[in-house]
Amino acid sequence: MRYSMNVVAKVLRLMPPLTGAFREALVDFTYADYTIPKGWKLYCSTGSTHKDPVLYPNPEKFDASRFEGSGSNPFSYVPFGGGPRMCLGHEFARINILIFLHNMVTRFKWNLAIPDEAIGYNPMLSPQQGLPLRLLPRRL
Ligand code: HEM
Repeated sequence: MRYSMNVVAKVLRLMPPLTGAFREALVDFTYADYTIPKGWKLYCSTGSTHKDPVLYPNPEKFDASRFEGSGSNPFSYVPFGGGPRMCLGHEFARINILIFLHNMVTRFKWNLAIPDEAIGYNPMLSPQQGLPLRLLPRRL
């Protein structure tokens, strides 16, 4: 299911459920000519990283093949954060999404009950009405 996993990776790049993560500077340091004093809080924005055209040319384009081959550069794809505090559940979450997607695609046809349902951040990215669907079993 490599292609399905690439599709999941692409969705998490374009619409990361968490918008970012905070860190605290443990020492004074300089980055890109900015001096960050010890104790300052830093926010790493997932969306900005994932839509940086230097890292992902034509960043709004949904192209699952981007994740083929050696994949993204380190810390350029961070829906689950990165470093020692990276999401502990990331493999569990990815497998669950993949199993859900596989069953939805192979066993059902569906359509949206509310086609123009709004998506909001509260603070997680979520459909405002819970994304009701009409499911129809697929004949196998
Ligand atoms: C699509 C689903 C999920 C997403 C997008 C997600 C994303 C994240 C992100 C961005 C962080 C912060 C990482 C950082 O600060 O660098 C995090 C932390 C964490 N996540 Fe997840 N997560 C997901 C599912 C899960 C699941 C299913 C579990 C547990 C079974 C889990 C457990 C944790 C824990 C324990 C932390 C805190 C890690 C730490 O601070 O050391 N997550 N997650």
